[in-house]
Amino acid sequence: MYITGETKITGLLGDPVIYSLSPAMHNAAFQYLQQPYVYLPFHVTKDNLAAAVEALRALAITGVNVTVPHKESIIPYLDQLDESARHCGAVNTIINQAGTLTGYNTDGAGFFDSLQEVGFTSTEKRIVILGAGGAARAVATSLLAQGIKDIIIINRTLAKAEQLAESLGNRVSSQQLQRYTTPDIPGTSLVVNTLSIPFKEEGKWLLDLSEIQGALFYDLRYGKMPSDFLEYAQELNSPGLDGLGMLLHQGARAFTLFTGQVAPLAVMRSAINLDYNSC
Ligand code: ATR
Repeated sequence: MYITGETKITGLLGDPVIYSLSPAMHNAAFQYLQQPYVYLPFHVTKDNLAAAVEALRALAITGVNVTVPHKESIIPYLDQLDESARHCGAVNTIINQAGTLTGYNTDGAGFFDSLQEVGFTSTEKRIVILGAGGAARAVATSLLAQGIKDIIIINRTLAKAEQLAESLGNRVSSQQLQRYTTPDIPGTSLVVNTLSIPFKEEGKWLLDLSEIQGALFYDLRYGKMPSDFLEYAQELNSPGLDGLGMLLHQGARAFTLFTGQVAPLAVMRSAINLDYNSC
């Protein structure tokens, strides 16, 4: 990569950032399109968040992605929110226009893009989301915007699931996650795992989902470890997807916000070694 006085800086604010695939994905895309941009990882702790946002202005950084744990806490430091971020109360992309910082969220739309890419179009069917945190909210918001009829949120802390369901409207309901039981979710066509814990505990699957065999199992996590949730999908002979598809598509949408260009999806995909053999 050739850096000049005109190179525009983009990057990622998070803690940690060392495992992120975003720098490889965005730099490959900039290079391929010969755009004068670079994408850098910025390790920002909670205590330094305000100073880091101020630095975006001071250093005239073009834009950044935002990741864990700052997606919600960064909002008060921004000047304005795009509809996409306001809707789900979280920001994963910031654009700096002459010192005015606007927060966007491309996670939800990226999630839906990844579903469409594998041919998932069952808007008439039921969708189950395991977990009720920020990821669950982004996924549910995006599915509802696409006209999905029925979502069930299953969470350990029922009050959190109820609160989330209530804030999303009458197409969403909630159930308590009770370990090693069979949830009441007939007719489910997609189950999305956003839990931050393994799906297998002491050799046992967290939930019995054999009733919905054939549904698409989507694990929002990705990483070096094989996903036990997708191992369970395989055991049930059900199709599975990991979070790399969402990573790719949220990144592609952020790339367009940074540069105004259509993202070179194939280049970004190969930079993160995404294939669909796991489907
Ligand atoms: P994110 O913002 O990425 O969605 P999060 O808000 O930390 O992450 O959400 C993690 C999810 O994992 C939550 O739904 C959490 O359930 P609670 O709301 O009950 O905390 C779930 N989770 C974390 N530890 C858990 C555990 N030991 N057993 C069951 N669920 C757990």
